[in-house]
Amino acid sequence: MTVYGVGLGPGDPGLVTVRGKDILEEASVVYSPGRLSRSVATEHVSEERVGDLDFPMTRDEDELREAWKAAAAEIAPRAREETVAFVTLGDPNVYSTFGHLRRTLDAFYPDVDVETVPGVSAVTAFTTALGIEVASGTSLTLQEAAGEATPTGPDRMVLFKVTDAPATHERLVAAGYDVVYGRRLYMEQGETLVTDDPEELADRDYYTLAYAEKEGVETTAATAAFDVETEVEQ
Ligand SMILES: C[S@@+](CC[C@H](N)C(=O)[O-])C[C@H]1O[C@@H](n2cnc3c(N)ncnc32)[C@H](O)[C@@H]1O
Repeated sequence: MTVYGVGLGPGDPGLVTVRGKDILEEASVVYSPGRLSRSVATEHVSEERVGDLDFPMTRDEDELREAWKAAAAEIAPRAREETVAFVTLGDPNVYSTFGHLRRTLDAFYPDVDVETVPGVSAVTAFTTALGIEVASGTSLTLQEAAGEATPTGPDRMVLFKVTDAPATHERLVAAGYDVVYGRRLYMEQGETLVTDDPEELADRDYYTLAYAEKEGVETTAATAAFDVETEVEQ
């Protein structure tokens, strides 16, 4: 049988894909690495089929490896007999815990099949939530902005892990960017916020991203040039 990494989307249970929902229904156990992913999963599966795994909040690499070895040791024997799901918010292959599980299973239990069901990532969901079009011919870069890091350079960036919005904002503005922030987009837990004022985001919330665009960068899609009055007359 198989371990499926199922992407749950940004948090709204209505944004789980049809395929993801099918796997959640089929799985005998659905493992969740956190409280938020658990609450989305339980909109689609009963509590008794959800298995919790314990992960330390640490960057210590030895501790992390031990935690993922323990998780793989719990999951692998079940996956040999039955279908097992491991859920993550967004997409399982975008800055996600699922990568640790996949690598650990590959290393210690190579006989266990691992598959991924893609989910709606915050990388794409931010466009609708913030009213941004990534028009053809333009580029978009995904970066992390945690801690002191505020990357600059590309014309357009999505920054994840904006944990200190005022500091990030100061650096981005100094580097010539216009910035919009999105917090808890499509999430039912906590308040959704879309703003260009970093002071509204002064309190730390992990589920915060930023879209930064270099001032003066322009793209004009062909259809943006419609002059309705002229067109209607023709
Ligand atoms: C570890 S990454 C996980 C990304 C996830 N796998 C995905 O594909 O969306 C977590 C970061 O994604 C961003 N993020 C994820 N979901 C979000 C949401 N619903 N609203 C705003 N930001 C979100 C935040 O910047 C957060 O710090």
